[in-house]
Amino acid sequence: MHTQQVGQHGRRPRWWRGAVGYEVYVRSFADTDDDGIGDLPGVRGRLSYLADLGVDVVWLTPVTPSPQRDHGYDVADYLGVEPAYGTLDDLQDVLDTAHGLGLRVLMDLVPNHTSDLHPWFLDACSGRDADHRDFYVWRDPAPDGGPPNNWVSHFGGPAWTFHAPTGQYYMHLFLPEQPDLNWAEPRVWDAFDDILTTWFERGVDGVRIDVAHSLVEDPQFRDNPLLDTPPQGSGGTGSVFDRFAHIHDLDQPGVVDIYRRWRRIADAHDAVLLGEVYVLDPTKLQRYVADDALHSAFAFDAIKVSWDAWEIRTTLGPYVAACDDRLSWPLSSHDDPHAAQRFGGGEVGARRALAYLTLLCALPGVPFLYQGDELGLDDAVLPDGVAEDPIAVRLGVRGRDPQRSPMPWDDGPALGFTTGTPWLPVGSNRTATDTVVAQQQTPGSHLDATTSLLSLRRRLPALTGDAPLEWVVEEGPVVAVTRGDEVLVALHVGDGEGDARLVLPEEARLLYATDPAAFLVEGELTLPEDVAVIVALDPVADPETAPEADPAPDGDIEEVP
Ligand code: NOJ
Repeated sequence: MHTQQVGQHGRRPRWWRGAVGYEVYVRSFADTDDDGIGDLPGVRGRLSYLADLGVDVVWLTPVTPSPQRDHGYDVADYLGVEPAYGTLDDLQDVLDTAHGLGLRVLMDLVPNHTSDLHPWFLDACSGRDADHRDFYVWRDPAPDGGPPNNWVSHFGGPAWTFHAPTGQYYMHLFLPEQPDLNWAEPRVWDAFDDILTTWFERGVDGVRIDVAHSLVEDPQFRDNPLLDTPPQGSGGTGSVFDRFAHIHDLDQPGVVDIYRRWRRIADAHDAVLLGEVYVLDPTKLQRYVADDALHSAFAFDAIKVSWDAWEIRTTLGPYVAACDDRLSWPLSSHDDPHAAQRFGGGEVGARRALAYLTLLCALPGVPFLYQGDELGLDDAVLPDGVAEDPIAVRLGVRGRDPQRSPMPWDDGPALGFTTGTPWLPVGSNRTATDTVVAQQQTPGSHLDATTSLLSLRRRLPALTGDAPLEWVVEEGPVVAVTRGDEVLVALHVGDGEGDARLVLPEEARLLYATDPAAFLVEGELTLPEDVAVIVALDPVADPETAPEADPAPDGDIEEVP
């Protein structure tokens, strides 16, 4: 048993504390102009749905102009809006409507690379002495004419492409159409200061920073060593990328200096910096999240754990210990299978995903749902031959399309996503019960249970505040934490052995269960497999007697000396 202190923080917007996040994959969320592609008016029209669900922060995947080689993660203009998604006015509408509903909006900032059609790169290619040449990473060929070192791209092949007209290679950790920016060039820093300032002045509440661990490279561009045994479940594509120890191209010391500078800009606008820091080591991740660096970073191991109590406990515990409440806990994302898929698919997977979300809601920091998680969706079954994701196209693997299929809203054409032809099929496994409307009309549906969970969390200061966290069961199939003396959250990670029993204080009261089969009588909790509960250990924690936590007014900053 170990207790972890929570909330030793500096300056940050108060609205971030205790928040719940929701990722909108804009392209697949809601289409209003019948072109089969989700758009900003579609997002605006569904914001009240998200407010009713009980989320606080909405992260929009990139909506800036892009040739869409990697669905927006190839930016051609950091300050505009992709015409397929709408206009700047549409974006302003999203922000205004969101704010009117008490929601905050994070934009996706992609600072590691641009599109090869960004004017900076077009200029950089015009000659070795071009004004923007140094905005990108150029190196001479190796003596044999090959790439300058052995670095490889996440998406297969070398991380270098030869540019014949100027006789040098440029670096790209992703597609050749996504050239890496050179963060050793001071003008790149200045350009991003301006980009961030512009967005924050437009009313954006923060940014999710794409591949936030990748911006800086080893100044000597040394080869990465080959691994003897590639790690399992590393989150890579199973490609050549996973065969290397990425000690020279990722997670380099200087990268946090960039966030120190951005933190000052963010603080001046009460905005939040949330990093996609794909570093699966809590002590290394800790470096990124500090009072003078990122406010928060995703703990991606939360999305990697299998349905195993020991693994869940021993994986998540060290993150809380190292990073306190400066983490965001992704349940799913557009890059990973939905939680329901990972935990077995179908009804079992959905049941487990809700139980796991209940545990994430008990951890300090910000739980993040991905669209469809609130419906218990697993991934879409797509027809053979559908491959939109560059990973699927280039590597011939499953890729990320199945988790990016359109959101099922109702029983209309394309399940209410579009009246046109959806850019990705909705999935042959989607049924009428998967849709938002069907679940809204069904008491006890996944949507109903998720809404109740988020509403309860909001009313439990022990879960959203500083109450210390303790992992109270160290062995067996139950994962349980307490927050202060007030609240216990327990999850039975099914092991096939039937109900678990926990002895609690007599006055303990069951506040929430992901399944009505859980019960608590005179201090004895009966917890069926794949079920999670929230229990008030002390009557003071019972929201029926405690007042609802009041969201802070706009721009309120929390400062802890
Ligand atoms: C991470 C994004 O989440 C992913 O979708 C994208 O392909 C890469 N970064 C490259 O930008």
